[in-house]
Amino acid sequence: MSSSVSLVMHLLLFTVHGLLSCSAATDTLIPGRALAQNDKLVSANGKFALGFFPSGSKFTNNTYLGIWFNQVPELTPVWTAHRDKPISNQSTRELKISTDGNLILLAQSTVIWSTKANITTNSTVAVLLNSGNFVLRNSSNSSQTFWESFDYPTDIALSGAKLGWNKITGVDRRLVSRKNSADQASGLYSSGMDSDGIGQQVWNSSVVYWSSGAWNGKFFSSEPEMAAGSSEVTYTYFKSDQEAYFIYTIMDDRIIMYNVLDVSGQRMMRTWTGKNWNSLNTVPKSKCEIYATCGPFTICADNGDTLCKCMKGFSIKSPEDWELEDTSGRCIRNTPLNCGGVNRNKTGIADKFYSMPGTRLPPNRKGIINASSADECAQVCLSNCSCTAYSYGTGGCSIWHDELLNVAMDNNNGQTLSLRLAAKEVQSSKTKKSIGKIIGSVVAASIASIGLIILLLILISRKKKLSIHKVDNCQGGVGIISYKYVDLQRATKNFSEKLGAGSFGSVFKGRLTLLPLQ
Ligand SMILES: *[C@@H]1O[C@H](CO)[C@@H](O)[C@H](O)[C@H]1NC(C)=O
Ligand SMILES: *[C@@H]1O[C@H](CO)[C@@H](O)[C@H](O)[C@H]1NC(C)=O
Ligand SMILES: *[C@@H]1O[C@H](CO)[C@@H](O)[C@H](O)[C@H]1NC(C)=O
Ligand SMILES: *[C@@H]1O[C@H](CO)[C@@H](O)[C@H](O)[C@H]1NC(C)=O
Ligand SMILES: *[C@@H]1O[C@H](CO)[C@@H](O)[C@H](O)[C@H]1NC(C)=O
Ligand SMILES: *[C@@H]1O[C@H](CO)[C@@H](O)[C@H](O)[C@H]1NC(C)=O
Ligand SMILES: *[C@@H]1O[C@H](CO)[C@@H](O)[C@H](O)[C@H]1NC(C)=O
Ligand SMILES: *[C@@H]1O[C@H](CO)[C@@H](O)[C@H](O)[C@H]1NC(C)=O
Ligand SMILES: *[C@@H]1O[C@H](CO)[C@@H](O)[C@H](O)[C@H]1NC(C)=O
Ligand SMILES: *[C@@H]1O[C@H](CO)[C@@H](O)[C@H](O)[C@H]1NC(C)=O
Repeated sequence: MSSSVSLVMHLLLFTVHGLLSCSAATDTLIPGRALAQNDKLVSANGKFALGFFPSGSKFTNNTYLGIWFNQVPELTPVWTAHRDKPISNQSTRELKISTDGNLILLAQSTVIWSTKANITTNSTVAVLLNSGNFVLRNSSNSSQTFWESFDYPTDIALSGAKLGWNKITGVDRRLVSRKNSADQASGLYSSGMDSDGIGQQVWNSSVVYWSSGAWNGKFFSSEPEMAAGSSEVTYTYFKSDQEAYFIYTIMDDRIIMYNVLDVSGQRMMRTWTGKNWNSLNTVPKSKCEIYATCGPFTICADNGDTLCKCMKGFSIKSPEDWELEDTSGRCIRNTPLNCGGVNRNKTGIADKFYSMPGTRLPPNRKGIINASSADECAQVCLSNCSCTAYSYGTGGCSIWHDELLNVAMDNNNGQTLSLRLAAKEVQSSKTKKSIGKIIGSVVAASIASIGLIILLLILISRKKKLSIHKVDNCQGGVGIISYKYVDLQRATKNFSEKLGAGSFGSVFKGRLTLLPLQ
């Protein structure tokens, strides 16, 4: 349908329904009219709607101007005008054509977004097309488009939209993931075309974690499932010195489908089944191949029920972010390292290492260190406060600084990553592991005045008999004294009165008749 026809239709509707046209479905915004609060434009085929929608998050009251599938009951935004500058839902807001012919979005009478197109006339109209493309064009010539939403995609490419670049107009159409599953704000993943016209997925504009391979006339070499194809979708690829783009086209207009780069950095097609969204053709196949998809200090596991887990010694920082799949700063250290960070402390107990076998090592290692043994490698790591892990294997000694990203389970080709933790964190895990092996040395603190002692059991040895000796005390405090197991058995009445359990092990009440001082 040409624009002049739709404009005439729109004017007819406007004349006939008068003020009712606010809620009547029209696909065109004309100068002098504004789209406010609860108004919407609906494409002529009824498939898409444009208006203000709530973020849908229980954590924010944000509102966005955007486009969604009009026939899908579950709100599914496909485009957002101002994703990084949300409007509070308390603000009055309107979209209109300004005196210079551009579209402007006002919140509390302040312009927060505009199309900024190079227009030499103010006789423009904005139309929501059947494809879901929102275009600003010459009101008397529908072929003359000044601006279109397809040139500024958010995280979704609709059927018929170009993905790629044009050196003449300067547009580079790439999908940028959302920061989390509730907000529309930009995340760190993007998907577009490199200078050779090869599709790629990139983390933080710097790390390419997936490449489509070259176009062979029918499909991209890394996406052979495109060849299987279907009569419902056709592909167009174009490449010249000035322009490179890729388009998919759905042949049957009744099919509701889109291509999205999701919060986790995975790209896929989604189709509406009538009840829910069904995902297909995901790239990359495995989520753990996506750079940093779980965030720093996590382990990614594709085969388990949870994709992301915090590493040993780390805990989920914000359950809200975790729920929303926000990848930034998900896991935080339980106990600060003895050396480094704000808790720099050179006098305490040295940090320890926790071994993680079967691990895909993180990238960005700090080179191979000249070390002839695992111990030497560990020492190199300990000597620098920003070192967080090392690995000693066939390739020699590697160390990592700061955040560990992209660590995944790999039972086939995995190696052992030794994670630097505060000594306390590593000891507590050993305690748990050796329970059942019965006994070891015991640290006892005595409260002589009331004759009671609380025994703290640290199970670190298989030896059942220990000779009494004074352990060297590096901190210059109260000496550590070890007792024979039988003495402790007697003092605690065979460990009958358990007082509780701490991170070092179980605590029992006991009475010593004689303190073996030397
Ligand atoms: C959202 O707005 C309501 C009132 O309109 C307020 O009570 C609530 O606290 C707000 N929620 C957030 C997360 O700002
Ligand atoms: C803002 O959002 C909150 C919660 O989503 C809702 O209760 C409130 O009515 C909204 N306010 C406006 C003005 O839309
Ligand atoms: C278009 O611009 C002219 C002057 O440049 C102005 O008189 C007229 O009101 C404008 N029309 C609209 C709809 O803004
Ligand atoms: C805007 O369009 C005019 C006329 O077509 C042209 O001379 C000018 O360079 C353009 N400006 C920009 C920023 O593209
Ligand atoms: C808009 O289209 C009309 C009719 O084709 C033309 O006369 C006019 O110059 C166009 N406006 C601009 C700014 O190109
Ligand atoms: C409408 O615009 C297109 C593209 O700018 C142009 O090729 C065509 O000649 C214009 N038509 C008229 C009637 O001016
Ligand atoms: C992304 O890159 C920028 C600079 O290129 C850097 O400052 C920022 O820390 C990076 N973000 C993350 C999460 O690493
Ligand atoms: C360093 O550690 C020692 C022993 O653990 C402690 O007494 C001291 O307060 C700590 N100093 C700082 C600055 O944390
Ligand atoms: C590695 O270290 C050993 C002694 O620690 C030294 O003899 C050797 O020259 C070093 N090799 C390199 C390449 O630095
Ligand atoms: C620790 O490593 C960082 C990063 O490589 C470096 O800037 C710093 O100088 C090192 N510190 C020491 C004490 O070697």
